[in-house]
Amino acid sequence: MSDAATSSEAANPLEGRSDGFATPRHVAIIMDGNGRWAAARGLPRVEGHRRGVEALRRAVRASRELGISYLTIFSFSSENWSRPASEIKDLLSLLRRFIRNDLADLHKSNVRVRIVGERETLDPDIRRMLQEAEDLTHDNDGLTLVVAFNYGARQELARAARRLAIEVAQGRLAAEAITPDLFRRHLDAPEVPDPDVIIRTSGEQRLSNFLLWQAAYSELVFLPINWPDFDRAALEAAIAEYHRRERRFGGLIAQAGS
Ligand code: FPP
Repeated sequence: MSDAATSSEAANPLEGRSDGFATPRHVAIIMDGNGRWAAARGLPRVEGHRRGVEALRRAVRASRELGISYLTIFSFSSENWSRPASEIKDLLSLLRRFIRNDLADLHKSNVRVRIVGERETLDPDIRRMLQEAEDLTHDNDGLTLVVAFNYGARQELARAARRLAIEVAQGRLAAEAITPDLFRRHLDAPEVPDPDVIIRTSGEQRLSNFLLWQAAYSELVFLPINWPDFDRAALEAAIAEYHRRERRFGGLIAQAGS
């Protein structure tokens, strides 16, 4: 991430727009298509994932430059464990390397790292690294990078239900007091606002168990490029698409891009 830390911030092309459109506060990304990117070039899948990490660095940098406050990335799903053991090993070692190589630069860039997903069942060394990333960057107030690792939305919802059930069983909470807002506060990262826009690359058009609660009013943008080709222009294109949508939040008043 050294380029992100040392280069001067480029101008924000969306800043100062006269039409009142705001940059989305929270962008979430399903980074899909690494395998297809590699297959199209006759390369091993791991090469697609390696190039995916480079695309991730570009995404973090562009998000900072564009003034996005929260960037959530789907880096390893609960379902990814069903992949061949060698690919799982590759993905885990890319994560280890990402934290080892990029954490200091993220910290220097004032990025706050937040991890969501199931941690209990992970190897102790990975759990330690994830915790270290959160602890080191805890007081930063720039971009919040939410890394969804060993994450599935149904599993997160089950975790929230379990936390509430324990409070009810212990007599600390009345079942009748459970509201959508209280439920939300028992999710993995309750302080993170819902994503304004969820981007998925590779042309696939589904959420695949990503942020099912938080996506209730998110705009969904599907980009026809594979993740390793993602760059600032792709992020800007997705934001431009978001700005073309009307957000009504179930009401009647159209509030475009806000
Ligand atoms: C989807 O491509 C991508 C993933 C399963 C993981 C995303 C991982 C990275 C960008 C690299 C790892 C980075 C960190 C920080 C862990 P795919 O393999 O499903 O592609 P395909 O659908 O074309 O096969």
